[in-house]
Amino acid sequence: MTKLSVNINKIALIRNAREGNLPDIFKIAQDIEHFGADGITVHPRPDERHIRFSDLPILKDQVKTEFNIEGYPGERYLETVLRIKPHQCTLVPDPPDALTSNNGWDTIKHRKYLSDIISKLKDAGIRVSIFLNPDIDMVYAAKETGTDRIELYTGPFAWNYSKNREDAISKYISAAKIAHEIGMGINAGHDLNLDNLKFFITNIPYTDEVSIGHALVSDALYFGLHNTIQMYKTLLRIDN
Ligand code: PXP
Repeated sequence: MTKLSVNINKIALIRNAREGNLPDIFKIAQDIEHFGADGITVHPRPDERHIRFSDLPILKDQVKTEFNIEGYPGERYLETVLRIKPHQCTLVPDPPDALTSNNGWDTIKHRKYLSDIISKLKDAGIRVSIFLNPDIDMVYAAKETGTDRIELYTGPFAWNYSKNREDAISKYISAAKIAHEIGMGINAGHDLNLDNLKFFITNIPYTDEVSIGHALVSDALYFGLHNTIQMYKTLLRIDN
């Protein structure tokens, strides 16, 4: 079954609005795991506007499921992840001032750069995933970087879902099929929500993991965190 990793950046954003630790992101991360999530994702950005670099070792020590740290592989990111060794690193090509991740890697242009970083991370025992648009050439070149997995950038799928969902998913099916055939795992993330998740997973049933933050935290305002996580987990069960 596809795993659900909950991105807690938005919770950290609320905490950072004031001094102190309310909401307590460490307790929330623990509760998210108790409520059924399969992992915790964070995405430290250079300005630390949501998760802070100082949060990372604490989370690493307490997360019992899977800890995934996304980010642009700059000096500070690499130094931190090589020191604390999360289960997975998801490398994204965002410029430092990006509001949110908004594009996948050009794995042809950056093949050598990525290969060097990925081999360092893998030598440290960290599984690596790289953020990718659903482009077949990029998928083949991703394989040559040595990455374990790709994370399909699902923003464009989500935006086009309500217009024509078959069209919205078609490139993702082709890209995922090839990635699967050539032996890479498949993660997916960005703008997945209670409306579009089931359709994505039904069409790409071998998705290993989805990471979801913005919609899930927003849904929790209405349904509560426990119910919301269970709702997302139910959608990931393709037999229902
Ligand atoms: N994957 C990556 C690489 C991201 O940067 C983000 C947002 O931080 C997500 C997944 C999750 O996206 P969303 O918050 O829209 O669920």
